[in-house]
Amino acid sequence: MEVNLRSTATLAADAVVIVNWDGEQHAAVAAALPSLYEAGEVSGKFLEFTLVHGLAGFDSKRVLIAGGGKKEKFTPVLLKKLVAAALRFLKGKNLKNFAVVLPAGFDGEASIAAAAEGLITGNWEPDALKTDRSADKTVETVTVVAALTPENTAALTRGIVLGEAENLTRDIAVEPPNVLNPLALAERARKMAAAEGLKIDVLDRHRMEQLGMGSLLCVAQGSAAPPALIVIEYRPAQAASADHIALIGKGVTFDTGGISIKPADGMEKMKYDMCGGAAVIGAMQAIARLKPSVAVTGIIPAVENMPGPASVRPSDIVKSFSGKTVEVLNTDAEGRLILIDAITYAKKLGATHMVDAATLTGAIAVALGPSASGVFTNNDALLGRWMAAAQVAGDSMWPMPLFDEYREQLKSVYADIQNIGTRWGGACTAAMFLKEFVEDTPWVHVDIAGTAWYDDAKPFLAKGPTAVPLGTFVQLVLDWK
Ligand code: BES
Ligand code: ZN
Ligand code: ZN
Repeated sequence: MEVNLRSTATLAADAVVIVNWDGEQHAAVAAALPSLYEAGEVSGKFLEFTLVHGLAGFDSKRVLIAGGGKKEKFTPVLLKKLVAAALRFLKGKNLKNFAVVLPAGFDGEASIAAAAEGLITGNWEPDALKTDRSADKTVETVTVVAALTPENTAALTRGIVLGEAENLTRDIAVEPPNVLNPLALAERARKMAAAEGLKIDVLDRHRMEQLGMGSLLCVAQGSAAPPALIVIEYRPAQAASADHIALIGKGVTFDTGGISIKPADGMEKMKYDMCGGAAVIGAMQAIARLKPSVAVTGIIPAVENMPGPASVRPSDIVKSFSGKTVEVLNTDAEGRLILIDAITYAKKLGATHMVDAATLTGAIAVALGPSASGVFTNNDALLGRWMAAAQVAGDSMWPMPLFDEYREQLKSVYADIQNIGTRWGGACTAAMFLKEFVEDTPWVHVDIAGTAWYDDAKPFLAKGPTAVPLGTFVQLVLDWK
């Protein structure tokens, strides 16, 4: 699908999309077909779509009247959803070429970027492994109608880059765990890095053993699939500062729970336990293309968590890369075990700031539902930057506490720390466990267990991986001063 920019809707498109605000009448529609409003068929409510043919005053065969909701409440983030939903609506009708007229007031750079991103992400389908794709509907060209300036063209490109990065993340996230094991995840990262000219280093089990990454390795030891620690480097041509941001993503390609095995019902969802890692790979692709002026390293600890004769057992004590010993009381709390060694590695690489994203706890989904990712931090300044970036990207985030008392729950009788607390505040004790290894480096932890996957399709996005928090990762880095 091609997305381009033109200053006029005068083209022989199959359809042109226009926005109708809630409580207002679109002048051209009201002039050509007033009965639509008289019959109350067009209200302008957000995501309401009305397709009409042969509307006087328009060159295209059809006009899609897209409800934008209340104009005062509209934002580029809503435009992204609206345009994505419009694409999915028109694609459903098997239309190939259409134009989107950006409404007055929402035709600047942020809106153009958002529209382009929405078109690309809206077009994604989880059909890569279907053999017969002949019945698939495909869109060929979408034109965004706005002034043709160099700034607007750059904004369109930025939106396309973000959309393509999100789709890469989602392609990786939907791959089944028999195909996407840790080494395959590393291959996806290698392919991306080679295409974008990024340096990549994949540490295998042997190197991790030499370094003493006992915490990460203990999770991997129950699986026939070897682990990988994927390290992707972006270095700016001219750095604006000595800052070095590490983006760390949980890459559990399948989480059975290990010996502390999960119930069968719903276990298939645990192929998405690498969504944090997939978001880091996608973010690094976007970063390579958008060239921010700060150093960024993407780090993905990749393992499969399986029960077996060699598995880590509840009560095993392992020595982490930091040197601290960890008592494994529940092998299903494996995300934190792999993340701490990645965090220590990031610090050794010289990271001055760290953000990790992980499908870490069911507890965060209980606390916040699918509406927001939970955010934890040891540094309010970095949290402020993160929340500002999230708002621009349109990722819903909610700050969660890291009270010192949570550390009490992690006291081990035999080791420096244990990997689970009590039933209560599970997302917070998980974050507290990570904090123990982060120490003083400014850090944000994002628990995406409730937000990384849509169980149902949305009008603007197919069912499946959301790519959260890729947009926030990239925005944070682009805004870094
Ligand atoms: N990958 C899961 C968390 C998860 C649960 C993600 C549901 C998405 C949906 C994680 O590894 C896990 O199993 N966490 C346990 C921790 C517990 C054993 C302390 C959990 O949340 O139950
Ligand atoms: Zn688990
Ligand atoms: Zn997990």
